[in-house]
Amino acid sequence: MSQSILCVCLGNICRSPLAQGILEEQLRLRGLEQQYLVDSCGTGDWHVGNKPHNDSIRVARDRGIDITHQRARQVASNDVDTFDYILAMDQQNKADLISLFGKQDKILLLRDYDPTPDSRDVPDPYFGGPDGFPIVFDIIWRSSERFLEEIL
Ligand code: 4NP
Repeated sequence: MSQSILCVCLGNICRSPLAQGILEEQLRLRGLEQQYLVDSCGTGDWHVGNKPHNDSIRVARDRGIDITHQRARQVASNDVDTFDYILAMDQQNKADLISLFGKQDKILLLRDYDPTPDSRDVPDPYFGGPDGFPIVFDIIWRSSERFLEEIL
C-alpha cells in the first residue's frame, strides 16, 4: 500500500461513500487497487455505523459499484497523519477539516479537479430527493478521474 486517500463529507452516507466507491473502481480499472487505500468519513457524527444512503447504494449499483459494505464513521484526529490526500466534497467540509487539522497541503477540494465545474461544491443530495444522486455520481466520477490523473 503506497498511497492513501480519504474522502470527506458531512454525514458520510451520501457523497463520500460514493467517492470512495468510485475511486476504488477507477483504481481497479487501472490495476492499481493494491497500491492505494481509499476510505471515507464525515465531519458529523449523526450516522456513525450506518450503511450508505439507499439512493447512493442504488446509483452506485446501477453503475456496477457495490458500496453496501461501507459503514459511516466520523473524522478522527489521526486521519491527518494516516492519509496522503484528504478530499473534501464541499467548501464547508474543507473549512471544517482545516479547523480540525490546521491548513495542510493534503486537504483538497474534490471539485477543483472537475473538468467542467459549475460550482466548487459537490451538492449535498441528502435533502433533495433521489433525482440528485445520479448528478452527484457524475460530478464525483469526472472529478475523481482528473484527480487520479494528477496524482498517478
Ligand atoms: P452527506 O449528506 O454529507 O453527503 O453524507 C448528508 C447526510 C446526512 C446529513 C447531512 C448531509 N444530516 O444532516 O444528517
